[in-house]
Amino acid sequence: PEHVGILALEVYFPASRVLQAALEAHDGVSAGKYTIGLGQDAMAFCSDNEDVISMSLTVVQNLLDKYGVDPAQIGRLDVGSETVIDKCKSIKTCLMPLFEACGNEDVEGVDSCNACYGGTAALLNVVNWIESTAWDGRYGLVVAADSAVYAAGNARPTGGAGAVAMLIGPDAPLPLDRSLTATHMAHTYDFYKPKLASEYPVVDGKLTQTCYLSALDKCYTRLAAKYEKRHSGEAFSLEHVGYVCFHSPYNKLVQKSYARLVYQDFSRGAGPPDVQAALAPFKDVTLEASYTDRDLEKAAVAASRAGYGQRVAAGTLIPKQTGNMYTASLYNSLASVLHTTRGAIPAGTRFLLFSYGSGLAATLFALTARDTAGKFSLPGIVERLDIEGRFAARTTVEPAEFASTLELMERRYGANDFVPEAQTDCLYPGTYYLTKVDDLYRRFYACK
Ligand code: ACO
Repeated sequence: PEHVGILALEVYFPASRVLQAALEAHDGVSAGKYTIGLGQDAMAFCSDNEDVISMSLTVVQNLLDKYGVDPAQIGRLDVGSETVIDKCKSIKTCLMPLFEACGNEDVEGVDSCNACYGGTAALLNVVNWIESTAWDGRYGLVVAADSAVYAAGNARPTGGAGAVAMLIGPDAPLPLDRSLTATHMAHTYDFYKPKLASEYPVVDGKLTQTCYLSALDKCYTRLAAKYEKRHSGEAFSLEHVGYVCFHSPYNKLVQKSYARLVYQDFSRGAGPPDVQAALAPFKDVTLEASYTDRDLEKAAVAASRAGYGQRVAAGTLIPKQTGNMYTASLYNSLASVLHTTRGAIPAGTRFLLFSYGSGLAATLFALTARDTAGKFSLPGIVERLDIEGRFAARTTVEPAEFASTLELMERRYGANDFVPEAQTDCLYPGTYYLTKVDDLYRRFYACK
């Protein structure tokens, strides 16, 4: 099969949101800390009738309906998530009722988990399946879904919730360029979930930032080296890239990440002359010092502003409005680019996608836009995404209610024998929701 990649993409985020400006006032932090300091506008969150299974059911059903794909045509389904509802039963198995209904029980794949990286592991698994001798000609499906919640404190405003589903197959408008894939993996304790009775992570916020940026550096350097080897030494730089999508815990980190790539180009003697001149005073800064040098960071952010506007800003729309969706975050950035550009992206445009999961696993990989016709095309995807409609139908919740919802969720985590308190009136039509958890911890869902 040729041009294997993303044929179709559907996103979901809960209809309930809290505004970051309101949260600043409620938390008693200085005005601007979350909106400018973190660069976030709003945060989506689940109440006790939504979870990672319901979000996955919703996003898969919506994708199948919107694209008219028969569930019997799916031969592989991989899920990426770090939201633990069950320590052994995969989320994938909870999605099987959507396939069993038409008699399709022959669907390979289960869940992948490593912090925010699971969605990318799932995507690579599915692409590998289609490119292997095991492929039976059917489509693959990737689902990434998470509810990102933190204990009260400075990490809480970097939460969020949402999901993505991607249909994978040949002749795609967004095929993966497998030769431009670079990975960095290491053992770190920057963000992890050792407390099995709590949904909240243990997080060293400052360490996550350095781990993220240094993994980005390493992946970018490796990817550039691969490109240069394949193109007889021709220097790789951001000039070869149309869009960069990042895993987006909060927008300020995305701004710094793009600046980091600009600095990497500078360090390798690549990139435009004005950027070279702006960063020249920092040519002797060591790599280690570069992560904490605030003057360098400021200069790199300033020098990268035009490039950020051109290559990154389009991908920030949904992440700024919903917050961190963990595994789904990167792919919501991709959906944002498609939505913002209305899919008017010339064939041959290269996307770089940076996936980062704490602990840590990171991959930087490339997609190259192609002109295809019909529903599996960039305009076909945009037409079906309806991001504006979804934004318009959200309910804004006061911070106090958001905080009490998280307290309720703390009690619900790992609990049995309850019926959710939350009402279904805020949910978008077509949303799956939890109706009860019985005494044997079995979960039941319905669709609005
Ligand atoms: N107006 C404008 N900017 C402000 C204001 C204000 N009133 N107040 C603070 N700021 C700026 C700060 O200067 C800082 O900017 P800088 O990063 O450019 O220095 C920014 O706002 C954040 O302020 P900090 O004091 O650094 O924030 P704090 O330490 O309280 O928390 C953090 C931030 C560490 C990101 C925390 O929210 C966290 O731990 N989040 C979870 C971890 C995370 O998301 N990591 C990302 C990668 S891993 C992953 O995806 C889970």
